Amino acid sequence: MARMRLDKLLAHAGCGTRSEIKRAVRLGRVEVNGLAVRDPGMAVDPEADRVFWDGEPVRYREYVYFMLNKPPGVISATEDPRERTVIDLLKPEDRVRDPFPVGRLDKDTEGLLLITNDGRLAHELLSPRKHVDKVYEAVVAGAVDDADVRAFASGVTLDDGYRTMPADLVVRDVRDGEDGPLSDVTVTLREGKFHQVKRMFEAVGKRVVRLRRVAMGPLRLDPSLPPGDYRELTEEEMRALDAAVSGAGPARESNAGRGEKR
Ligand code: URA
Repeated sequence: MARMRLDKLLAHAGCGTRSEIKRAVRLGRVEVNGLAVRDPGMAVDPEADRVFWDGEPVRYREYVYFMLNKPPGVISATEDPRERTVIDLLKPEDRVRDPFPVGRLDKDTEGLLLITNDGRLAHELLSPRKHVDKVYEAVVAGAVDDADVRAFASGVTLDDGYRTMPADLVVRDVRDGEDGPLSDVTVTLREGKFHQVKRMFEAVGKRVVRLRRVAMGPLRLDPSLPPGDYRELTEEEMRALDAAVSGAGPARESNAGRGEKR
């Protein structure tokens, strides 16, 4: 693997900010191949060199994978001059490897968003050829009925003339709202067109008032994650993702702890 600066490797491993790292190196807290080093700019090979921070092994991982429970009001972008982005929700040490959201949820959509810097996995997950299922829970104004379920099952024509692939629509409940009936539904899509769930309901004369993604391929939104929180994917989730896009590349290491510094 290409050599890189020691302070960059330590920053990518989540050891601290560049200035904290420089100070720690100068204080002799970092060892490379058994020797204390004092030069934060020293070139190291992340795969071949053994780096220790306060005696603990530092393992370099090229990729990060986070599951975020996106809250409403933030945009699915990496940066924006005016709006808060999903990347702004990450701790500074989790931003250093330039992660980005895999696909987009609308500003007002909540729920599961995968954030990674693994471009190949993102590409595979978003590839129209892979038909990775995306599952949404929606609250819809009006009483969603069997005719809507059948329309979704055969595909509906959107405002721009695009005919969608068949989608599963399950009506979980129809209840009284302040301004008329509200339907709690689950929609499973095998593609990801712009505003697709909202536009599919518009195509059958209804309006989505709340939208939350609960699954993407084998990933299920962790019910213990409050909106705005995120966590690393587990090894099991990584394996399931790899299997879902099989052929996407070698098995990746998850970020799961293991008592080593990332
Ligand atoms: N469909 C939508 O309409 N919006 C989203 O954010 C995701 C899917």
